[in-house]
Amino acid sequence: MELYQGLLTRRSVRKYQDRKIPRQELEEIIKAAQYAPSAHNKQPWEFLVIEDRQTLSSLRSVQRWTSFAKDASCAIIVCGNTEQTFRRDKDGEKWDYADIDCSLAAQNLMLAAHSKGIGSCFCGASPMPLVVDGLRKLLDLPQHIRPVAIIIMGYPDEQPSQPADRYNPAKIHWEKW
Ligand SMILES: Cc1cc2nc3c(=O)[nH]c(=O)nc-3n(C[C@H](O)[C@H](O)[C@H](O)COP(=O)(O)O)c2cc1C
Repeated sequence: MELYQGLLTRRSVRKYQDRKIPRQELEEIIKAAQYAPSAHNKQPWEFLVIEDRQTLSSLRSVQRWTSFAKDASCAIIVCGNTEQTFRRDKDGEKWDYADIDCSLAAQNLMLAAHSKGIGSCFCGASPMPLVVDGLRKLLDLPQHIRPVAIIIMGYPDEQPSQPADRYNPAKIHWEKW
């Protein structure tokens, strides 16, 4: 699939065929995620792959907008390692780039999946504290691992309609606002 075409045709897919994604495909998709840019090239991401049907079904009790995960082939939780990320916690500054880095990795993940005919849907975790804590408990994540995205995946059993045109030139500001 040509890259620009892939960018325009990726849609969130929430209905999946009852079909496993081969391990090699998953590894290639995660490899693409690991080629994402990251602040100071820290690559603070970790990928937790869930294929267990019971765990997939449990996701909705932690993040209420993930009910369709129960029928997915898998979910990949993209997590940030808060000890590895580019961060500052001194001189009155407290910030880190883990969520941004992981979001970029998640987009690569979804586009790589799309290029292989695999559908996906980004579901949020951080910055929702209850969801972050719930996922930590459900998946035994250590305290320094912050879940950023729940990417639910599978071979599509629906073809979401393409938006007529999302291009909005009014959102583009040249030189000054
Ligand atoms: C930060 C973020 C959080 C999202 N959370 C959810 C979610 O919890 N459940 C869901 O079904 N979709 C979720 N989505 C998917 C959006 O609903 C979807 O991207 C949007 O409607 C645009 O549709 P498209 O992905 O087909 O372009 C989320 C997307 C983003 C970027």
